[in-house]
Amino acid sequence: MPNNDRSVVVLISGNGSNLQALIEQSTSDNYKIVGVISNKANAYGLKRAEQNHIPSTVLDHREYESRDLFDQALAEAIDSFSPSLIVLAGFMRILGTQFVERYQGRILNIHPSLLPDYPGINTHQRVLDAGEKRHGVSVHFVTGKLDGGPVIAQVPIDIESTDTADTLANKIHKKEHIIYPAVVSWFVDGRLSMDANDIAYLDGEALSASGTNLATT
Ligand code: GRF
Repeated sequence: MPNNDRSVVVLISGNGSNLQALIEQSTSDNYKIVGVISNKANAYGLKRAEQNHIPSTVLDHREYESRDLFDQALAEAIDSFSPSLIVLAGFMRILGTQFVERYQGRILNIHPSLLPDYPGINTHQRVLDAGEKRHGVSVHFVTGKLDGGPVIAQVPIDIESTDTADTLANKIHKKEHIIYPAVVSWFVDGRLSMDANDIAYLDGEALSASGTNLATT
């Protein structure tokens, strides 16, 4: 059992702007980031952790012979922090089924699209190439299906004719930095859960396929 119901571990691979937003919005009343784990030694997010006196661990996936072995080491690193919640924030590794089942209902991910549309990578360019008028961001529970777990919250944005993949990435990041700390707070407050059938609940109500619309400006 976790030592502290409000403790959160954040997994990153890169810049960590979502980690930064989570750090800035963490207060003694909501969640506490007890550790950061990166699969890249040069991830800028590790500096953010250091600057905020958050312990961090690097696990380079290339040093493991198989996904299972990496997942086992990752689970050990996570368990050393005894978190109640695992928050994927730009963590660019696919997690195996056993790993996901071990932490069932305790892993969140943020994805830059309006899921179930555009799972996977390069979402900004793909929505532009498809001529979409709307894009957005989703926070969801992690299940064995890539970017396929139940959606908890989304924020849509309009795509303008001048948008590029870079401008969309900037707009989406701004929304991410609002939506992710909010959802993490819901979880540690006990308002959010996922059942064995992969249905997500907020305040006891089953969430719809698009979750809650958190259209904050
Ligand atoms: C975000 O766009 C997130 O949606 C995706 O990876 C990106 C991470 O950005 N999963 P950052 O490292 O938090 O700046």
